[in-house]
Amino acid sequence: MASTTVLLLQLVLVSLASASHHYGGMATYTYKGRNTDGSFNVDFRRRSTYSGCSSHHSWYCVVSGHCAPFTYEKGTIESNSIWCETELLSTIKVVNDKPFNMRAHSCCWVNTRNLVSNWYLLTLIDLGMRSDTREPNRSPDVSIIPYLRIPQNCPRTYKLMAFDPDGDRVRCRYGNIPTHECHQCSLPGGFTLDQDSCMLHYNSTTHHSSVFGFEMVVEDFPKNHISLTYSDRSRRSVTPLNLIHPVPLSKLPLQFSVRVESSAPSCQEGVYLPQFINPTPANGARVQAVLNKEMEIIVKAQVSMGRIQAIHVSGPMNISKHTNAHNEFVIKWTPLHNDLGDHYPICFVVDALHQSRVYQSEMRCVLVDITATQVKSHVICTETTMTVMVEKASFPRLHQDHLRLSDPTNTVCSLQTHSNSTHVIGVFPLNACGTQVEEDNDFLYFKNEITPFDNTADVITRKHLLEVQFYCQYPKRGNVTQGFLAHRTNVTVWDKGFGTFTYQFEFYPDNQFHTMIDPISYPLEYDLGSRIYMQIEATSSVSNTELFVESCKASPYDNPNYSQTYSIIENGCKVDPTVVIHPSSDVKEFQFSIEAFKFIGLHDQVYISCSLMMCEAGNSNTRCSQGCINSTSPAKRRKREAIIQSAHHFVSQGPLRLHRSAESPEATGTWNLNLNLVFIVGCLLAAVGMVCGVALYKAKVSKVKYQPLPHLEN
Ligand SMILES: *[C@@H]1O[C@H](CO)[C@@H](O)[C@H](O)[C@H]1NC(C)=O
Ligand SMILES: *[C@@H]1O[C@H](CO)[C@@H](O)[C@H](O)[C@H]1NC(C)=O
Ligand SMILES: *[C@@H]1O[C@H](CO)[C@@H](O)[C@H](O)[C@H]1NC(C)=O
Ligand SMILES: *[C@@H]1O[C@H](CO)[C@@H](O)[C@H](O)[C@H]1NC(C)=O
Ligand SMILES: *[C@@H]1O[C@H](CO)[C@@H](O)[C@H](O)[C@H]1NC(C)=O
Repeated sequence: MASTTVLLLQLVLVSLASASHHYGGMATYTYKGRNTDGSFNVDFRRRSTYSGCSSHHSWYCVVSGHCAPFTYEKGTIESNSIWCETELLSTIKVVNDKPFNMRAHSCCWVNTRNLVSNWYLLTLIDLGMRSDTREPNRSPDVSIIPYLRIPQNCPRTYKLMAFDPDGDRVRCRYGNIPTHECHQCSLPGGFTLDQDSCMLHYNSTTHHSSVFGFEMVVEDFPKNHISLTYSDRSRRSVTPLNLIHPVPLSKLPLQFSVRVESSAPSCQEGVYLPQFINPTPANGARVQAVLNKEMEIIVKAQVSMGRIQAIHVSGPMNISKHTNAHNEFVIKWTPLHNDLGDHYPICFVVDALHQSRVYQSEMRCVLVDITATQVKSHVICTETTMTVMVEKASFPRLHQDHLRLSDPTNTVCSLQTHSNSTHVIGVFPLNACGTQVEEDNDFLYFKNEITPFDNTADVITRKHLLEVQFYCQYPKRGNVTQGFLAHRTNVTVWDKGFGTFTYQFEFYPDNQFHTMIDPISYPLEYDLGSRIYMQIEATSSVSNTELFVESCKASPYDNPNYSQTYSIIENGCKVDPTVVIHPSSDVKEFQFSIEAFKFIGLHDQVYISCSLMMCEAGNSNTRCSQGCINSTSPAKRRKREAIIQSAHHFVSQGPLRLHRSAESPEATGTWNLNLNLVFIVGCLLAAVGMVCGVALYKAKVSKVKYQPLPHLEN
């Protein structure tokens, strides 16, 4: 009997704790094909937001026996000090394609000021074949931040994300069937809802410590009259929305909490309320993501009063949020096989803090379209190198001779050296070829890209046909791995007008610069204040050239783009007071020394890196002949035809460490502390199976079009 409601979908014991703890919930479904026994598969995703992560809604089919779950996964979307939103994904086997309802209901919402206490969620699913698409209907894709906050004096509009993959008309209405769709069933005062555009407007009301519980319903209606045909040959006729009692194609619940807080001193965005700025995507933007490749959305906000504190995100399970070195938030997510052809909304808000008061931004949502990989590639990361391999067959119109890394001047950056007939292959060090280094709390990222260029004259075409971005990711905590201790070998560069030449950067034991320190003794240890002797030597087949060292710095990574550095030489001028430049008779040699300094001790180890150039010797118009320029005015630009000086090149050597002094227990303490704090790198052979190489693609010529879902029909 239908009266005995069987909890078919009770997959995990739900916590029916008496405490009031519910903040909202929603559900969507995707048809996933038909089984040989005539039954249908549906992926059913539902999100629930509670004060903790262990609770979630328990759904069941209203008609007992109509459906049965056969797999499920649970994941957390966001957990913070107030709420935790989780998602459960079940693949459900449905006995036939007739419309059916699924529901979930229980107690209790958090204390709400509109007296919503029980929660009721109802979904209508209909798998009949549409006369227009010849496929079962697809439900709208909905998403919302489950806990929205707004100052009472600041009117605001929330455009609810409600995208329909079939192009149907989506209506967002307030729940109106008591104990099925809602408990209180009326829109809270102070708000208005435009059902057709799914815009929720906050106008004005008083503030309160309790939230409003919102009990909304999202439905889709065809734009024209259609019919749904079922496997038993019966039909249902579905009319467009403008009739008296419209019956939707599908129905989804959308419940969330809104807290109206005391007045803000100003409602202008960017003062107390955070304002989104570039490169944050616009509300409603479409984002392309590729199967099995991590995608990123960068979100940046500003306030003039207070500071940006946190981002809140709602999207598919396993979505994660990070902060990068530019103080931007980065939302990351990786679509998996089962997601091909699907669309996932991702919503976000940003909180700012001013004198212990939180101000929340507007909400933005983007829609992620998942497509198949277009360019086949693979990235391998070791302790010192990145290897990128791209299948030539996946971009037939481009020749490898017209592809390059960000900065190809160093000869190790050539894509010709390792490529074979089927793959374009680049193998290069983490500190060269224009590789950018970025970090967040947990990881270091070394990023580069392969792009086409017009000809060997170094001009990058702006009409990119292909851009393969990739990176290596290294956890900051772990064991020191051997590779990050390795001595750096010679750097060989190619420069127009100077041809190929080599830089050698070595440490020496004393100011005689006779015998360089043996590479096997790296990392080198120094006592604080002892002298470090270094020599840079250039070898060029072109005679009449001189070497100029423009800048040198110490930093924990020898990547020219890493920003936490200690300057030793800048603009050809000594910056550290202990720098001594030792005169050398050879203009292609630069010998200098410096006292071991405290900066080294702030890090586990540091590298010394320098920016160098070659010039025509004796020419008074070159940068080399100008020496130290103590001003911000840039050196005079030279015409490209008269090549009298090269581009800047990067060399590095290290690592250096401070010697652990037995006599200084305080120093020892600091040292130990630093050892623990400092990142140590290794996404490596040690962590077998860990994905540390990731490639992202941008096809710039034609926007990736939506691709139909491949059905699992047998
Ligand atoms: C979520 O992440 C877990 C652990 O990494 C993984 O096993 C699971 O397949 C992921 N699920 C989805 C739907 O992304
Ligand atoms: C080219 O190199 C790739 C990667 O090492 C390898 O998988 C492929 O088999 C090679 N192709 C040929 C023709 O050697
Ligand atoms: C670091 O290495 C030591 C010895 O090789 C090992 O016992 C320890 O588990 C490692 N720690 C981590 C975090 O990998
Ligand atoms: C580095 O360059 C120096 C001089 O240019 C040369 O003598 C030395 O053999 C080179 N070392 C390696 C490992 O190639
Ligand atoms: C460079 O400028 C700074 C201040 O602008 C001054 O203190 C320093 O002495 C100058 N150095 C040289 C070498 O002129």
